[in-house]
Amino acid sequence: MSSNIAITMAIFATFMMFLLCSPSVAILLSRLQLPSPVMGPESVAFDRDGGGPYVGVSDGRILKYSGPTDGFKEYAYTSPNRNKTICDGLADFSELQATCGRPLGLRFNHQSGELYVADAYFGLIKIGPNGGAPTQYFTGIQPQEDKENATTFPFLDGLDIDPNTGIVYFTEASSNYRFKDLQALQSSRDMSGSLYSLDPSTNQTRVLMRGLALASGVAVSNDGSFVLVSEYLANRIQRFWLKGPRANSSDLFLVLAGRPDNIWRNPRGQFMVAVNTLIGPSAPRRPTVLPGGVRISENGLILQIISLVQEFGNQLVSEIQEHNGTLYSGSMQASFVPISTII
Ligand SMILES: *[C@@H]1O[C@H](CO)[C@@H](O)[C@H](O)[C@H]1NC(C)=O
Ligand SMILES: *[C@@H]1O[C@H](CO)[C@@H](O)[C@H](O)[C@H]1NC(C)=O
Ligand SMILES: *[C@@H]1O[C@H](CO)[C@@H](O)[C@H](O)[C@H]1NC(C)=O
Ligand SMILES: *[C@@H]1O[C@H](CO)[C@@H](O)[C@H](O)[C@H]1NC(C)=O
Ligand SMILES: *[C@@H]1O[C@H](CO)[C@@H](O)[C@H](O)[C@H]1NC(C)=O
Repeated sequence: MSSNIAITMAIFATFMMFLLCSPSVAILLSRLQLPSPVMGPESVAFDRDGGGPYVGVSDGRILKYSGPTDGFKEYAYTSPNRNKTICDGLADFSELQATCGRPLGLRFNHQSGELYVADAYFGLIKIGPNGGAPTQYFTGIQPQEDKENATTFPFLDGLDIDPNTGIVYFTEASSNYRFKDLQALQSSRDMSGSLYSLDPSTNQTRVLMRGLALASGVAVSNDGSFVLVSEYLANRIQRFWLKGPRANSSDLFLVLAGRPDNIWRNPRGQFMVAVNTLIGPSAPRRPTVLPGGVRISENGLILQIISLVQEFGNQLVSEIQEHNGTLYSGSMQASFVPISTII
C-alpha cells in the first residue's frame, strides 16, 4: 500500500515537473552520416583521448567517426566468425544478425582503453585497445539452449562501466524474446529482464535484479554506491544499492511520462536518460513518438527536459550524451548521429 502511494506521488511529481518545466529544444548543428545502408547507432561512446563517436550498427560492426573527410570507418566487430561478404551492409531484424552480431550498449574502460559491448546475439564482448576481433564472455550467464538446439547468448542491451573499479554493469532486455522480435517485445508485458555485473579482474558475475520490464539502459553512480536500470515497458528507473546500509536492495528511483532507454552519467555525476513519449492511440495504429531526454540529479530530481524532435522527427531516441555543451544522440531507427546544442 505504501509503495502504491509512493508510486502515485512519484507520478504526480513527474507530471508537475512537465507542467512547470518547459522543455529545452536541442538545435540540430549537423548529422554524422553512417555509410549507407547500415542503420541504428543505438549507443554512442568516446575513447580516453576524446576520439569518436564510436557506434554499433545493424550489420554487426562498431564504427569510429574519424572526422569530416573520412567519416565513419570500421573499428571492430562482435561476432567471432563474422563473414564480411555476408554481413556488411545488413539491415536490422535480419535473421543473419544471429551470425553477424548486433552491438547495442557501448562503453570504454578509460584506464585500459578496452571497449565493452552488450551484443544482442553474442552477449558481453570486449574489444582490445586497437579494435578488431572480439573476446566473448559468458561467465556466470550460460548460453541458453534454443529449441533448435542452437546455442544462443542472452539478449543483452545496455552497458556501463564503473570508472574507478572497472566493474561492468549490463542488462538483459528479456529472456523470452530475441532481438529480431524487438517490436513484439516492445508491445508485450514481458517482465523477464535482468541486471548483471561482471568484474573483469576475477570474471565474477552477479545477478543484481530479475523480473524487469524490458531492462534497457544502465548507469552506475559516480561514487559506485548504486546503479540505475531503466525499465522501458514500465516507464520507470530503478536503483540497486551496491554499498551502504541498503546494499543489495533496490528501490524506485524515478517514474517518467515516457519510455526510458539508455542512461549516460556525465562527469558531474548527473544522468541523461533518453525518453520517448508516446502520444495517442496504441495498436493497431502507431502512436506519435516525441523523442527527448531528461537530465536528472544524483538524487532523482529532473533538472532539464530536452526535446529531440528536430533531430529525430517521429523516430525513437535511444541515448543522449553531452560533451562540452554539445549533444550526441543515438537511435535504433536513424542512419546518422545528430550533433546538437541546447538553447
Ligand atoms: C563468406 O561467405 C561467402 C559467400 O557465401 C563465401 O564465398 C566465403 O567463402 C565466406 N568466407 C569465409 C571466410 O568463410
Ligand atoms: C544438442 O545437440 C547435441 C549434439 O548434437 C546433443 O548431444 C545434445 O543432447 C542436444 N541437446 C539438446 C537439449 O537437445
Ligand atoms: C575472463 O574471461 C575472458 C573471456 O573468456 C578471458 O579472456 C579472461 O582471461 C578471463 N579473465 C580472468 C581473470 O580469468
Ligand atoms: C551483498 O551481496 C553480495 C553478494 O551476494 C555479498 O558479498 C555482500 O556481502 C552483500 N552485502 C550486504 C551488505 O549484504
Ligand atoms: C569546448 O568548447 C569550447 C567553446 O566552444 C572550446 O573553446 C574548447 O576547446 C572545447 N573543449 C574541448 C575539450 O573540446
